[in-house]
Amino acid sequence: MSVNRGKWSSDFGFILAAAGSAIGLGNIWRFPYTVGEYGGGAFILLYLAFVALIGVPVLLAELSLGRSTERSAVGAFKKLMPDSWWPAVGGLGVLCGFGILSFYSVIAGWTLSYFYMALNGRFADGLSSEQSTQIFTELTASPISEVLLSAAFLTLTALVVRGGISGGIERAARILMPIFLVVLLLLVGRSVTLDGASEGFAFLFAFDFSKLSAAAVVSALGQALFSMSLGMGAMITYGSYLKRSENLPKAAVIVAFFDTGLALIAGLMIFPALFHAGASPAAGPSLIFIVMATIFNTMPLGSLFAIAFYGLLAIAALTSTISLLEVIVAYFVDERQWSRERATWVVTAGCFALSVPSALSFGGSSFFTNMFGGTGFLGMANIVFGNYFLSIGAVLICVFVGWKWGIGNAVAEMDSGGKLPAQAFWGILVRYVCPVAVAIVLVYAAVTGNYL
Ligand code: TRP
Repeated sequence: MSVNRGKWSSDFGFILAAAGSAIGLGNIWRFPYTVGEYGGGAFILLYLAFVALIGVPVLLAELSLGRSTERSAVGAFKKLMPDSWWPAVGGLGVLCGFGILSFYSVIAGWTLSYFYMALNGRFADGLSSEQSTQIFTELTASPISEVLLSAAFLTLTALVVRGGISGGIERAARILMPIFLVVLLLLVGRSVTLDGASEGFAFLFAFDFSKLSAAAVVSALGQALFSMSLGMGAMITYGSYLKRSENLPKAAVIVAFFDTGLALIAGLMIFPALFHAGASPAAGPSLIFIVMATIFNTMPLGSLFAIAFYGLLAIAALTSTISLLEVIVAYFVDERQWSRERATWVVTAGCFALSVPSALSFGGSSFFTNMFGGTGFLGMANIVFGNYFLSIGAVLICVFVGWKWGIGNAVAEMDSGGKLPAQAFWGILVRYVCPVAVAIVLVYAAVTGNYL
C-alpha cells in the first residue's frame, strides 16, 4: 500500500522543507501583529517558553509518529490503533488543514498583489499612512480581486504539491528558503537603522506582565503551535517521508531554532519600521501590509526593497501553504488510494470554495466582514483553527504518544537515527506537562469567557 508515497531525497532537504513549513506568514504576519495586540515583551517571553516546553516536544512526538508508521495524519493513528477512535484525531487535523489553508491563502493572495504593486513602483514615491491604508482597503474590499488572488495562490501551491515529495516540495524549499533568508536579513539591516528604531526595540523588550490576559496566553500557545506547524499532523505527514537514518532530535531543534529566530527577526524588522512610521502596533492583521508599505520611500533603493519584501512574504507563505495542502492530499493518497494528481486538484478546489467567505471578510461582503461581533469570518477562522483546533490537536497527540503508543516506542523510533538527550524529561513533558498545561489554558479561556 505504501508504494510510491515518496521520500525526501536527503536529510538536509527534509530540514529545509520542515523549516519552510514552519517559517511562514505565521512568523512575519501573525507573530508581529499578535505581539502588537498583546503588548510586546511579556508576550514574547511566554511564547518562547511555549516553544521550548511544548513546541519542541510535540514536534518530536509528531515526527516519530509519522516516521514510524510511514503514514500521514489519519493513517498513522489507524496503523497503531486500528479499531479505536484515535484515527479521528488525524481526521480533525485534516479538517483543520482545510480551515487554516482557507484563510491563509487569502492573506497569501495579498502578498501576490503587493508584490505586483511593488514591481510597478507603487511604493517608490512617498506613501503617507493614509494612502497606504487606502491601498490596503481598496484591495481587500474588492471581492473579485480577493477571490482571484486566493485562487491564484492555491493554484501555485497545487503546482508544487502535485510534483510530489522530493520533486515538488523539497525542490521548492531548496530554491526558496535561501532566497528568503538573504532578503530578510537585508530588510532587517535597513529597518534597525531607521530613526525611531529604538522605540521599536523598547516595545519588543519591555516586559509588562499586567498585559497577559487569558486571551494573550491562549494566543501565545496557539502562535507557538501555529508557527511550528504543529497540532494537526503536518509534521506527522512530513515525518512519514523520512528515512530511518535522519536524526530527529537534531532536526527538531534546528527547525524550532530557525522558526523562532525568524519570528524574532521579523519583529526586529517590523517594530522599528512601525514606530518610525508612527503607526499603532495594535492594528491587527493589516499591520505589516499597511506599515511596511510606508517605509520603503525612506530608504535608498526603496523600490527594490519593496519588491524584495513582498517577494519574501510570498515565498514564506508558499512553503507553508504547501505543507497545509500536503496534509490533506496525503490523506486522500494514503487512505483513499487516490492518485496524487487527482487528490491535489480536488482538494485545492475544495479549499478554494472554503476560502471565499474569508476572502470576502475585509469589506467584500458586509455579512462576512461584520460577523462574530466584528471579528469577521477570516478573523474567526484564524482563531478557531489556528489556536483552538491546534491546541486540542496537540493535547490529543501528546496523550496518544505518551499513553497509548508509549514513550518507549517513540524513543526507540528516534534512536534509530540519533539519540534523544534527556529522554526521561521528554517523556514527562509529553505525558504530563504538555497535555495538562494546554488543557488548563483551554479550560481557563473557556471558563472566563475570555477567549478571543
Ligand atoms: N507554520 C506556518 C506559518 O507559520 C503555517 C502552517 C503551515 C501551519 N503548515 C501548518 C500551521 C500546519 C499549523 C499546522 O506560517
